[in-house]
Parts: sequence; C-alpha cells; structure tokens
Amino acid sequence: MDKNTSIHDAEFHRSNRVDRKREHVRALFERADVLLSPMAGVTDMVFRAVCRDHGADMTYCEFVSADGIIHGNPATRELMELAPGESPVGIQLFGSDPNKMGEAAFEAEKLGPDVIDLNFGCPVKKIVKRNGGSALLCNVPLMEDIVKSVVASTTLPVTAKIRLGWSSTSLNYLEVTDMLQQAGVCAITVHGRTRDQLFNGEAAWGPIAEMKAAASVPVVGNGDVCSGEDYLRMRRETGCDAVMIARAAIGNPWIFEEIKAALAGEPYTRPGVARIIDTLVDHLDREVALKGPRTGISRMKKHFGPYLKGYPGISDLRKRVFQFNERDEVVRALLAYRDSYEDLRAA
Ligand SMILES: Cc1cc2nc3c(=O)[nH]c(=O)nc-3n(C[C@H](O)[C@H](O)[C@H](O)COP(=O)(O)O)c2cc1C
Repeated sequence: MDKNTSIHDAEFHRSNRVDRKREHVRALFERADVLLSPMAGVTDMVFRAVCRDHGADMTYCEFVSADGIIHGNPATRELMELAPGESPVGIQLFGSDPNKMGEAAFEAEKLGPDVIDLNFGCPVKKIVKRNGGSALLCNVPLMEDIVKSVVASTTLPVTAKIRLGWSSTSLNYLEVTDMLQQAGVCAITVHGRTRDQLFNGEAAWGPIAEMKAAASVPVVGNGDVCSGEDYLRMRRETGCDAVMIARAAIGNPWIFEEIKAALAGEPYTRPGVARIIDTLVDHLDREVALKGPRTGISRMKKHFGPYLKGYPGISDLRKRVFQFNERDEVVRALLAYRDSYEDLRAA
C-alpha cells in the first residue's frame, strides 16, 4: 500500500483497479518522453497526427466540457473525435460537478482514448467563473469528489493536469498531489505557474522537482520548454518522467524531432522554407481529406502564420491563399512562395 493511502482509499483503489491502471500508465510513460499538450483551438485530430509523425509520443485532445458531452453537443463530440487506431491519446474533461464529470468520463471512454485527463489548470475567466479548471485548486475537497467520481465511472486510467496553485500566496501543489494520488489518479502533469500568472513570467520548475520527489505516480513537467536544450534541462532539473509541450509546437511540429535529437545527443537543424512548405501542404492535405476542400482550407487559417513566422510577405500569402476554395490553387500559391523565397535568398 502507498505510504499515504488510508485503508478507506485502499478499498476504493482495489474496487477500481487503480494499481493495474497505474501499471499501464507507468509502462506508457516508460515509452513516452515528450507529449503534445491539450490546446483549445489547436490540438485537433489532424494537428495531433502531424505532431505524432514528427515525434510526439502521446497527444491530447483539447479540453471538452462535461456538460457538452452529456448534452450530446455535436461540436463537443467533434473535439473528441479520434482517428482510427490513434494511440496513445488522452481526452481531457473540465467541469465542476462530480456526477456530471463521472458521466462524461463514461461517455468519453466509448471513443477509445488511452486515458481520461482532468483539467484543474485552465485559468480562463469563463471556465473559472463556473468553478472549473484552476478554480478547483481553491476547493480541494470538491476536486477530490470529482476525481473519485471519474475514477469510479471509467475503466480507463485517470490522469490530472494542474497548476501550482491559485496564486503565489496559496501554492498547494503538494497537498493537491497527495490528494490526487489518494483519489486514484495515475499520473499528474504540472504547469509551473499559478492561475494568477496566466501565461506571464517564467514557469517555475523547482516545484515540479518537489512534486516529483513527493509523488508515487509519474509526474509530467510542463511550462516554457521551447527547444531540445530546454527539454534536457527540465528533465535534469526536475527528474520528471516526461515533458509536455504546448506553445512551442504551434506552427512547429519539428520541436518533437528537435527533442528526440537532443535525447539522442545528435545535432539538429531547424527546417528551412522548403521543409516548412512541404509540411504545410501535408497538413493541408490531411485537413482536406478529413473535412473537404472548403472547410479544410478554412481550418488551416490559424496554422499559416505560426508555420511561417518570421518569413517575409506572409500576410500577403495568407490573403491570397484564403481566397481559394480548391486545394490545388492553395498548393500552387505555397509552392510559388517557396520558389520566390529561394530566389530571394539566392539573389
Ligand atoms: C492556445 C492554448 C490553448 C490551451 N488549451 C489548453 C487545454 O485545452 N487544456 C489544458 O490543460 N491546457 C491548455 N493550455 C495550456 C497548455 O497545455 C500548457 O499547459 C501551457 O501552455 C504551458 O505550456 P507551454 O509553456 O509549453 O506552452 C492551452 C494553452 C494554449 C497556448
């Protein structure tokens, strides 16, 4: 029995096969060094596939609301859509009602993810106002009820993603870690910021190391890892079992290759315009195959800028590309951009 697990929790763990689920997650993290974070508006099925092909060992759908799942909301359903055979992948839920969260986990399991992840870190006002995301860091007993309800409602391992606390004066990551473990969570991801920090300042990695030292389940470190070097430093300084990457992957699925190269001690060169355009075309083709040309092209809008960040003439290219309704027209414009850029460089 875990040194912190009471007799009552031990019975809960036994009846919900927590030990077996933990073994499964531990094995998963033994093979997974770097994960793509859940990101609202970003980590759809196609983006996850692109990142996986560039080295992400595990991916997550963006967070989905328990209410949306229970009401059979088609938009929510689409956010949780998994590709055939997609694995390992997590579906992340948010909400504040333990019964609804349990019901939502039961429904989400039917879609075939490897884990159900619980969002206890989202800082966005709309979510926090309804007691979801990081608001739950201020109500650990309610968080515990949610976790237990979800653990008891799904046969899948349950994981959680937290921040360090609500604010610098209410840091409670160790208390929360302890509670999450007792409540049956199989791994914890921690973003090294408080809710009050939003995305400002630097992520603190010291607390991630403290959590790792205190936890008996795998701890995934998250926050400000933007290069292979950052990755190695986070692993070294915190001892975390894996690292989750969010913003550095937007428009840059090669971050995962860079990290894999760093892990192997190999040199890495960031891609030039030709490779970027090839990947953009591949990304576009997957969108078009899934959603058809019009919707597929429209869904690419948010990716264009980030992929080509720093390159000249991007807003013109975007304007031109988004007038088109056909895949071939978009690709022609992209290839022409690539050639003109190469000419520019050669001149
Ligand atoms: C656009 C965007 C959307 C996000 N959506 C989610 C989400 O749905 N669930 C979640 O747990 N975190 C979400 N996050 C937070 C990230 O997963 C991650 O914790 C945070 O960005 C810190 O990691 P980074 O420094 O690698 O970006 C989001 C972040 C961004 C930038």
